[in-house]
Amino acid sequence: MQTKYQLDEKEIPKKWYNIMADLPNKPQPGLHPGTKQPLGPEDLAPLFPMALIEQEVSLEKYIDIPEEILDILTMWRPTPLFRAHRLEKAIGTKSKIYYKYEGVSPAGSHKPNTAVAQAYYNKKEGVKRLTTETGAGQWGSSLAMAGSILGLDVKVYMVKVSYEQKPYRRALMQAWGADVLASPSNQTQSGRSILEKSPDSQGSLGIAISEAVEEAAQNPEAKYALGSVLNHVLLHQTIIGEECIKQMAMTPDYPDVVIASAGGGSNFAGIAFPYLREKIAGKDIRVVAVEPTACPTLTKGEFSYDFGDTVGLTPMVKMYTLGHEFMPAGIHAGGLRYHGMAPIVSQLFHDNLIEAVSLEQAKIFEGAAVFAKAEGIIPAPESAHAVQGAIEEAKKYDAEGQSKTILFNLSGHGHFDMSAYTQYFTGNLEDSTLSEIKLKESLSSLPKV
Ligand SMILES: Cc1ncc(COP(=O)(O)O)c(C=O)c1O
Repeated sequence: MQTKYQLDEKEIPKKWYNIMADLPNKPQPGLHPGTKQPLGPEDLAPLFPMALIEQEVSLEKYIDIPEEILDILTMWRPTPLFRAHRLEKAIGTKSKIYYKYEGVSPAGSHKPNTAVAQAYYNKKEGVKRLTTETGAGQWGSSLAMAGSILGLDVKVYMVKVSYEQKPYRRALMQAWGADVLASPSNQTQSGRSILEKSPDSQGSLGIAISEAVEEAAQNPEAKYALGSVLNHVLLHQTIIGEECIKQMAMTPDYPDVVIASAGGGSNFAGIAFPYLREKIAGKDIRVVAVEPTACPTLTKGEFSYDFGDTVGLTPMVKMYTLGHEFMPAGIHAGGLRYHGMAPIVSQLFHDNLIEAVSLEQAKIFEGAAVFAKAEGIIPAPESAHAVQGAIEEAKKYDAEGQSKTILFNLSGHGHFDMSAYTQYFTGNLEDSTLSEIKLKESLSSLPKV
């Protein structure tokens, strides 16, 4: 019984897949936050290099991955596909479970797939410094690593709750040479305005984005990098699914269900978009996004124009959102604490091409603990959503007397998240399910368009 399916370095995919070419309904255009008119390239130019702006609006089905990027990605890619024989046994399922493991990157997650690409295009256009936000620290550390490889300064606004919960993630960013600040900080107008209203703010991705965008917009040598949500970020992640399709072809199986966690939607897009290409072409595949009950963007949010950040500096995009002022509970899956969802993922959900479920934090850790014992790998709390999602799908099929092939994306390891595991093992994890009252209140902040 084969466990690992590995590709040779030469077989690394040479093109990203752009699902925009195949979408039955394209997402609505982004709008300027001031004029509310559709965005043009000139609106994005202060924040992003032109090559990434072109990718953002491209309708080409495939985009070549430059040799220089492939050369860096082969430091850890292609990543392995595993058949989870031991997990199947542990939960007693008749279904087959496979997982693609992105935790083998030096930063420990899928995020370097786009960090390297973004740093490369910025460097090529003469940018000296990148600013960004990070939740759990996975994205910030990935950009710090990419900056150190490509010779760019990196400044990271790290959500305060994670800054305090995850000191070693912070140290990792510093080891790769990045400047790291707790957000909200007093270094930006956005940060100061939040601190004035709530001096004890734990921060959120939305606030950290406001700070990073503000700094990049004011410094001509700096640009901004986002770790999820945008079309070009999702594009860079499709290398995961393209590899996975080749690896699944080495097995006797084809996935009936593809599952990934969804924060802003990038690791989900990475594994799912190449399979959605097959689904749009007629294959019978279910595709499921898993989110926390503390931040149930797809399952409880509204499909509406909203700002990408809390303060309202970024363009407005049509997406599922909980409202840009939404302040999620301080759950350990920091990378899933985002009020919105990628416009492309939102459109796919609106068009019923994908499904979504939300799971409670304690359940997630229960699944992660079963997985760790069976398969050896400690999942990142974000990735544990996909693990538990897969376990629940397998159990559901067992109850129906069916045996299916389930594939999920294990987007990262949790070696820097052990304090969260400790809280789980000592029974100190709180139920953080979002209440209807809080949901209604935060949806009332949606801008009128
Ligand atoms: C390991 C891991 N998985 C998943 C996510 C969620 O982000 P996205 O939805 O963009 O994949 C994050 C975000 O920080 C992460 O670090």
